[in-house]
Parts: sequence; structure tokens; C-alpha cells
Amino acid sequence: MHSQTNTFDLKLLDSFDTINKQNAYNIFSKSASSPSIWAKLPLLEAYVHENLRYLSQAPLLLPHLTIEDTEVAGYKIPKGTRVLINGFYTAHNPSVYDEPFEMKPERFLDENGNVVPPGHPLRYHFIGFGAGRRVCIGETLARSRIFLFLANILQKFSLEPVGKLPSRDVREYKMSVLIKPPSVSARFIRRQQ
Ligand code: HEM
Repeated sequence: MHSQTNTFDLKLLDSFDTINKQNAYNIFSKSASSPSIWAKLPLLEAYVHENLRYLSQAPLLLPHLTIEDTEVAGYKIPKGTRVLINGFYTAHNPSVYDEPFEMKPERFLDENGNVVPPGHPLRYHFIGFGAGRRVCIGETLARSRIFLFLANILQKFSLEPVGKLPSRDVREYKMSVLIKPPSVSARFIRRQQ
């Protein structure tokens, strides 16, 4: 399994055991892969939130241009300025996310094990898909695809890393317009019914 086309693989292996505890296989064998299963797999949904936060795949979002003179936090920004927003920083801001360079899907769960609501500070401060009028149009599609992709794999296979895993620290990943984690190999072991 190569993560060059799928940046979620590395952390999937990392959190695999945790997700497995939720027994994805049993839940999925009873229900089709429909959106209704989201509510039944809060840990997996939390994992998707955490993975998007941790990787912050588009670290500087997309460039924007000011269309009029403006001021942000005391800084005067003239009309026509190219503005980059550091989404990577906001996703790893230690005053919002405890131990920001740790993968902790459970941070997105409340005390009853439910995913925290959209207005919760942990979700509110995540701007990996941008914000406002030019927010990513594909956010819902992307989130649901990632969720179903992982859920379907977990339903059918258990995974074992092959060979030595590369660093799992996002700060060591290749950073450009997008963040590119190193490849990782895994053995897919079909689950027994
Ligand atoms: C994990 C997957 C994805 C991430 C992290 C992501 C992230 C982003 C970011 C950061 C922006 C710029 C927002 C801004 O600067 O304000 C953006 C814009 C955009 N994204 Fe995505 N995106 C993802 C998936 C998708 C998908 C699946 C689609 C289409 C089906 C899509 C379509 C777009 C479009 C059309 C824009 C431009 C929106 C505009 O300027 O009005 N994205 N995305």
C-alpha cells in the first residue's frame, strides 16, 4: 500500500488498533456503507477529523488577494496584496490543541464518546478547507469519501505494517503546496467472518 496517492495511510496504521476497538467489522457487516453508519462509528469520524488536522495537507490553503485596503490584528494590508493563511499553524496551535503533534482522535470525542459538535473550539479552529465564501467546495465529499474508504478497508481487512515504518512526525514530511508523507507498505489480511 503506497501513501503517495493516499496521505491517510500512515496515520491509519498508527491509529488502527484504536479504531479496531470499535469493532468496525461487526457494525459494517450489519449495515451497508451508508451515511447512517457515521453515528455508529464516532471514533472513526473523530479519526478523520484528527487526521485532517494533523496532516493539514494544504498547509497554506490557497493564495488570496485583498480587494481593498484592510487591517488584520493591527497589520495594515493594502489592496492587491497576495495573502497566504497559515492553516498548518492554526491546526497545530498549542493553545487550541493539546499536544498538537500527537495523533489523538479521541480529542474530538466528548465524555459520552460522541463527536463534538461543529461549533466546538476544536472544530471551529480547524480551517484546513479554508473558511468563508471561498471555502473548499469539496469538503463534505472529501470527508465522506475518507470515512467510507477507511471504514470499508477496516471492515474487510486487518493491516500490518511491512518493514520499518518511516517517521510519523508531520514536521518531517515533505512540505510544498501540499504536504506529502513518505510511502508506507502494509500487509492486508482478510478478516474471517
Ligand atoms: C482532503 C481533501 C481536500 C482538502 C484538504 C481541500 C482543501 C482546500 C483548500 C485549503 C482550499 C482553499 C480554501 C481557501 O483558501 O479559502 C480548497 C478550495 C477548493 N477545493 Fe478543496 N480540498 C479537498 C478536497 C476537494 C475536493 C474533493 C474537491 C472537489 C470535489 C475540492 C474542490 C475545491 C474547489 C473547487 C476549491 C476552490 C473554491 C473557491 O475558490 O471558491 N476540494 N480546498
